[in-house]
Amino acid sequence: MLQVNVTRKADEAEGICSFELCAADGSTLPAFEAGAHIDIHIADGLTRQYSLCNDPRERHRYLISVLKDPSSRGGSIAMHEQVRSGQTLTISAPRNLFPLDSSAQLHLLFGGGIGITPMLAMAWELSHQGANFELHYCFRSSQRAAFVEMLAQTPFADRIRFHDDSGPQIQKLDASALLATPDAATHLYVCGPAGFMNYILDAAQNAGWSQDRVHTEFFAAAPIDQSANAPFEVELASSGQVFRIPAERTVFDVLDEAGIAIDSSCEQGVCGTCVTRVLKGIPEHRDKFLTVVEQAANDRFTPCCSRARSSRLVLDL
Ligand code: FES
Repeated sequence: MLQVNVTRKADEAEGICSFELCAADGSTLPAFEAGAHIDIHIADGLTRQYSLCNDPRERHRYLISVLKDPSSRGGSIAMHEQVRSGQTLTISAPRNLFPLDSSAQLHLLFGGGIGITPMLAMAWELSHQGANFELHYCFRSSQRAAFVEMLAQTPFADRIRFHDDSGPQIQKLDASALLATPDAATHLYVCGPAGFMNYILDAAQNAGWSQDRVHTEFFAAAPIDQSANAPFEVELASSGQVFRIPAERTVFDVLDEAGIAIDSSCEQGVCGTCVTRVLKGIPEHRDKFLTVVEQAANDRFTPCCSRARSSRLVLDL
């Protein structure tokens, strides 16, 4: 855990605020990789993850950007309405669940709306490395587009394509055309709201892009129909203890109540913090974090939301 001061809070676009965070004791901050996020403890019981969007080679600050989402679970509203410049916050050290793949010869970055945030850090890093990349930034209207002026001043401005949904057809992103020919040396990185993600991912899938070259970061999982949930058991490999997981509860909840600690963060299957090894049994994957290939291996699952197809899972706990 780190103590940071909010040294600057700024309106970046309609409904979007950025927050500059510096170490409260004036020291340098832990280094971070492009794609990393931090947990911010906004209030008691209210922790949210935000991507770091500044140049990863900066050590004097972290920069995050937050979209005020009226349908959110409260985190973004609290960030906008309660967090003030000068305030001290507790944050986690950065963690990276959305890394760049250094084997790629071309990186195609797709940021939709506030999903531009991890792409900014990626673009800075790729620019430093002299790597080959394009950044596609899609937004609903110019009023809702953050960082446009800043991006125009960057050394990689010529690699950015802006796609304004409310603008002329010719500049809108045509994902099917752009991704029509899969390339083994090209990797895709996609972050944004669900509709945007599906648009890019469907185009990639239809064109035959291999899953291992498509990297995603979801903000939130779509609601899951829980009506057909069935109870099952989990066994802890270390102790042999067996727990019954009722239809209306998650593995994480049941184990947490029993004092079995599993790290968690989003609790909706998007961040990957809770991923746990499965030694026996078949999980029913409900997360958005593991790839299709990783899910098919059935050797890991996310206890915050996933369930079981078999009557028992033996977990490496
Ligand atoms: Fe985020 Fe489980 S806590 S995936």
